[in-house]
Amino acid sequence: MTVAIEMGHTTAGAPATLDLEELLATRLLVQGNSGSGKSHLLRRLLEQSAPWVQQTIIDPEGDFVSLGDRYGHLVIDAEEHTERGLQSAGERARIHRVSTVLNLEGLDAENQMRRAAAFLGGLFEVARDHWYPMLVVVDEAQLFAPAVAGEVSDEARKLSLGAMTNLMCRGRKRGLAGIIATQRLAKLAKNVAAEASNFLMGRTFLDIDMARAADLLGMERRQAEAFRDLERGQFMALGPALSRRPLGLRIGPTDTSPRNGTPRLMPLPESALEDARAIILAAPPPETVRPQRRSSPDLLDQLMAAKSAALEIRPEPAEPQISAEDLAERRERVDRVLRAILAQPDAGFRVIGVLYQEFVVRCRIEGLASVVPDLPEFRRMLTRARAGLGSDMAAGDDAWQDVSVRASLLPDDMQGVFMMIARAAKEGWPCPSDAAIARAYGSHSLRRARRLLTYIEEQGLIVCQLDGTGRRTVTLVELAWATAPGDPNAGEVEQGSLAL
Ligand SMILES: Nc1ncnc2c1ncn2[C@@H]1O[C@H](COP(=O)(O)OP(=O)(O)OP(=O)(O)O)[C@@H](O)[C@H]1O
Ligand SMILES: [Mg+2]
Repeated sequence: MTVAIEMGHTTAGAPATLDLEELLATRLLVQGNSGSGKSHLLRRLLEQSAPWVQQTIIDPEGDFVSLGDRYGHLVIDAEEHTERGLQSAGERARIHRVSTVLNLEGLDAENQMRRAAAFLGGLFEVARDHWYPMLVVVDEAQLFAPAVAGEVSDEARKLSLGAMTNLMCRGRKRGLAGIIATQRLAKLAKNVAAEASNFLMGRTFLDIDMARAADLLGMERRQAEAFRDLERGQFMALGPALSRRPLGLRIGPTDTSPRNGTPRLMPLPESALEDARAIILAAPPPETVRPQRRSSPDLLDQLMAAKSAALEIRPEPAEPQISAEDLAERRERVDRVLRAILAQPDAGFRVIGVLYQEFVVRCRIEGLASVVPDLPEFRRMLTRARAGLGSDMAAGDDAWQDVSVRASLLPDDMQGVFMMIARAAKEGWPCPSDAAIARAYGSHSLRRARRLLTYIEEQGLIVCQLDGTGRRTVTLVELAWATAPGDPNAGEVEQGSLAL
């Protein structure tokens, strides 16, 4: 069963849908300048999904309290509760499966962070029996996961960033689907943004945000210029829950009545919880382990904090720790993703930007977001892979090191061809045909393949020779490895050298 909610229409006029189950597994990041329509988009998403799945909104401006009247969300005014009270409220909201709006309006930045962290902590730490799926929407996420330290105390920042990191990096297993919106990607902590696999990018003016958006979407930065021209309510969608290719869409109106009579993602309790307010917000149980924190630091606290900050160098908060073993295992999986992409029949003919986009999305689906290579590294991997080399071979072998140094003298897009020929020469395989060379170059043109070979020869890297029967041998200069004679006109299937 899939449950697709309708977000609006594509630029072509078709319904633009969001797959809720996929969203639960893969999270969402929304970016756009002020007024681009992010909050409207979140509201649409919440309204459309309200009948299907429990939800909570971390709402710094009190924008979403109106959901309470229409859809029955319990509105929690954070101002009126302690951190500990909010932590309990978070746990109970999950236990009783009540949708909530955490209204943080009227609090200063320090307390917005502390109280949001406490509530999120409650959602996160609830016992395993209550790990039902739940959307956790955070509007203005840069307030809770800022890229750099601001005015607030270090402790508040650590708590809040930790809670956001938990939500985005480790929430999935617990059924929490993070949905975060921000005006400025550059202001949002990178590790938090990196864990989303789905993106909705709205109007964006600043180059630095466009560059970050392009990196996340796996687009050339030049392409991201288009974000400047988006209108209010228009977004570019990408990701497993939205679209496999970048898709323009316009968000539909809000305040539609929830659909009913259709299958449910996960049934919510039959009858509404009697007196949800009294149960969720009952006084917290007597203090056992966690000491009660002061709700706002006084001057003395701040001085103490500043002093201890000066005395110790603290590690960066909340970056998830990955062991070397884990990292190697993830790299191996990244390699596998790349091989799967290259195994597609048309892979050789697609431009690098498109391949990279697909690569990034697949890595994210595999939970590899934190180790996705950037575009330059991807180019290098592609070069090695197109030459039929695993990363192990490139690493261990001195002669191969030599080959890659030589390859680096060539323009990026020719390196794969050179490596492929070098491999054939090393193994004594027949010289690749023009068709095989064209394919490795991402082209269908045999003439271009021959020109390419001539060019590489002119750079002094190879020598090409034809024998009496028209078969071609290529020898690597200095290394003196030579291919076996091969027919330039052979179809690629006969070529042993293309081991993709
Ligand atoms: N798709 C849409 N259709 C109709 N009206 C929209 C749409 N998107 C946004 N609007 C309207 O445009 C205005 C700005 O939208 P919204 O508040 O969602 O922007 P925002 O990106 O959240 O801005 P900020 O970052 O300042 O909070 C609102 O009045 C909203 O109702
Ligand atoms: Mg907004």
